[in-house]
Parts: sequence; C-alpha cells; structure tokens
Amino acid sequence: MSAKEGPLFEAFLNRYDAPAWDGVVRSLLPYIHEVDRTATRIWFAFFPLALARAFDLADDPEELARKLVMQGRYHLKDQIDSSHEFLYGHRYWPEVKRAVAEYAASAKAPASLDLALQIRELADKVAKQVKADESLLVAVTAIAFMTLQQVGCEPFDASLGTISIDRSRSARSPEQVLKARLRDDSQGLFGSLLGLEKKYTITFNENDRNATFGLIDGQHLTTAAAEDKRDYVSRDPRCTVNEGPIPVQCRSASCGTCWVGVLGGAERLSAVLPLERRRMKEFGYTDTDEERPLIRLACQSQPSGAVSIVIPPWNGVFGRFIRGEKSRLDEIEISGS
Ligand code: FES
Repeated sequence: MSAKEGPLFEAFLNRYDAPAWDGVVRSLLPYIHEVDRTATRIWFAFFPLALARAFDLADDPEELARKLVMQGRYHLKDQIDSSHEFLYGHRYWPEVKRAVAEYAASAKAPASLDLALQIRELADKVAKQVKADESLLVAVTAIAFMTLQQVGCEPFDASLGTISIDRSRSARSPEQVLKARLRDDSQGLFGSLLGLEKKYTITFNENDRNATFGLIDGQHLTTAAAEDKRDYVSRDPRCTVNEGPIPVQCRSASCGTCWVGVLGGAERLSAVLPLERRRMKEFGYTDTDEERPLIRLACQSQPSGAVSIVIPPWNGVFGRFIRGEKSRLDEIEISGS
C-alpha cells in the first residue's frame, strides 16, 4: 500500500463521525443479506466510533481506560481480522480486506463522495471475484471501511487477513444459518403432557458447534451459562472460573460486564425492564426504545426458547462520558472549520 496516498482516504473517512456512520449503516441495511443484517447492527454497537475517537484524542489513554472501567480487548487494532467472526460474510474477509486496502491506496479519486455508495460498489466488485451474491459482502465491506478508519491504513494493511470458521460450519448456506436461528427446542409430547421443566439451547458462537449451553425455563442467561464448567478463562480473561462463557460480576445490572448481542431469537427473550434499559444507556451500549433490542444484559434476560448470542470481547462504562465527549468533539470540529 502507498503510505503516501492512504492518509488521503483516511482523511475522507474521518469526515464521517458516529451519527454520519449511523446514517450510512441504516442506508446499507436493505442491501445486506438477511443472514448478516442483525449481525451488522451488533458489530457497529460492539465497536463504536465515538469511543475509538475518544481514545485517539485522550492525552493519557490508560487513565481514560481506568476512568471508563474498560476491561477486555476494546481496541479494533488488536482484532482487525477477528472482530467480525460472527458475520456470515467473515468468510470473504481476505478478499474484502485486500480490496479495501488497495482502494485506500489508490491515487484515483472515488467516483462518488457518498460513502455508502462506495461500499456497495466495492462489495459488488469483490462479489464478482469470489462469485457470491453482493448482499453477502456489503456488511463485511462496511466493517472493513470502519476498521480502517479506526485503526489507520498501515495497521489495517499489516494485518494478515485470515479467517476463522469451524470447517463443519463453513459449508452452511445463508439459508441454513437462518433456519438454524429460527429453530426452537421441542419439549416432546411427554415433556408437555407431564409438565416437565422446559429446556432450551443457547448458542454463543455460531461458528463452533460445541459453543452451546442448556437453559431451564425461568433461568437468566448468566445463571444457565454458569452451569457450563468448561474452561473459558484462557479464551477470555474476563471470565471467572466455573462461571461459564459469559463474563459476569454483579448479576444486578450494575457493572455492564455481561452485555451480549442477540443474533437470533431476540423475540424469545424477556422484554427489557426500565432498570436494564436505563443501565444500558449509562454503560453506553445502546439507547433504544425497542422492547427486545439486539443488545442485552445477560444477567437481566430470561429466554423462553432457543437463542443465539454473541459475546463482545470487552466491557466498560462510557455512556455519560461519550455524550459529554461528543459535545467536546463538536466544539473541536466547529472551531477547526
Ligand atoms: S453482571 Fe453486572 S450487569 Fe450483568
């Protein structure tokens, strides 16, 4: 990549702040295959631009991390190739990453200054190369652009461009993935007649056939996860020994450790209560009126059927800071214009 030309593209991308990117993602959603539409919204919630910019602007990033109680891997630069493993389009990452790096290095002026249009055009070009439907590449291409904006051209270019998908899962079609998300656990005729406890399957990594745990009707996600005694600490140091795959601390909506994205079965989770809604806004994870949003606190969520979740690699408490920081960023942009 040309280090000389790349920064010009970075400068172009940096004209898009968090609200502008919200608009870009909203306008792209109709062009994204259903298999990745929810995952796209979850990814952009997991890696907010406003937070990344706050760290870029911080005089002392370590002090900021302490202030925001940041835990886990919250920088995209540490997971350029892996942050999007839960998207179906992740399988096209090597080709998409290469195309975006070349695009950023190109001396040619883009045909359009419309970012959403540029993303779609590049997704279409790569789709033809890999002989896939364009709708399967739009999300991962948008993620590549956002990743480049957050990490910069050189680190983006230096990443290996590898993918990680369980071999048995990589052959599944988008339709098979969607069908698996819709499937609920049958309780069997005798189970229903005898009034036995209902049991559901919770999937926490669709790319790994072993990444499931069972849940008994009435349990919260974190309570059921804690019955999975496999080793998760070596995978994510935020996990606690014998507490399962979902990092957990307070179990009372106070710490924000247990947030998850809901890829499938959001309608099978209990409705958000005012405490969870308020706390998710304070943590900075989401601010929505939806009754069953795609971001939840696992310690407050009770499934009534099979659900597929994604566990983010970090947690923090940054809602108030970002809202205050946003006005600071606005001031900087106004005084600089
Ligand atoms: S464990 Fe603290 S908010 Fe859920």
